[in-house]
Amino acid sequence: MKTRILFIGDIMGRPGRELCAQHLPTLRSRYDAIVANCENAAGGQGVTGEIAHALLDLGIDALTSGNHIWANRDVFAIIGKEDRLLRPLNYPSDPSIPGRGAGVYRVRGGLRLGVVNLMGRVFMKPIECPFRVGLAAVEELRQETPLVLVDMHAEATSEKQAMGWHLDGLATAVVGTHTHVQTSDETILPGGPAYITDVGMTGPHESVIGIKSEIILHGFLSAMPVKHEVAKGDARLEAVAIEADSETGRALKIERVRLRKGVMEELQ
Ligand SMILES: [Fe+2]
Ligand SMILES: [Fe+2]
Repeated sequence: MKTRILFIGDIMGRPGRELCAQHLPTLRSRYDAIVANCENAAGGQGVTGEIAHALLDLGIDALTSGNHIWANRDVFAIIGKEDRLLRPLNYPSDPSIPGRGAGVYRVRGGLRLGVVNLMGRVFMKPIECPFRVGLAAVEELRQETPLVLVDMHAEATSEKQAMGWHLDGLATAVVGTHTHVQTSDETILPGGPAYITDVGMTGPHESVIGIKSEIILHGFLSAMPVKHEVAKGDARLEAVAIEADSETGRALKIERVRLRKGVMEELQ
């Protein structure tokens, strides 16, 4: 049987949340499972319990995140309690770090989808090895279901591509997030996983990765710290649609999705 999974790229502030509210009612009828990265959902930095639940209520089955997950203090009220909200799994295993980095979720069609959230270490905080932690997690989740999606939240293209090959033959999909610009390298690796270096951003594209361009420019020109503010123009939902064999867990197809505000037809 074929299963259809939609993975939505980093949801950025109010424009990103509005795009989800607008498109999810249609999208959830087209896909068996929907996963989204929510690390920028609250004003561009982090997520709150209220926002996470509003996104889940739209029909998103699980939320992944990344380096910004701790940015909004309100997250601490939800992160250890809501199993559908993930933070990178390869943070140090220390009881003081709340939350979880992987889970298996019941989705439509009686299927179960495993989701693993990893974070890279190149140009990012040197946390635990995503390759070792990720492999062990995918192997463990495969005991429960052949369908396992991995969000590799990383800065370096090389680290994301390497993760795709590392999980070749094991994962259903390895999708990159964090850099906010959709890449055109979507492919199916020989052993089955669908792969893309970056899914893109669900938010304002008339910006510098979602932030008002004049603010980021001022930061570069002055070398002074600046207060980030989410931009407004050219809001787009960016995602990948993955079709997989639900018995083997192998991907059959991956397609990029880009939807404008209020327009359901995909952008060319
Ligand atoms: Fe992000
Ligand atoms: Fe990030």
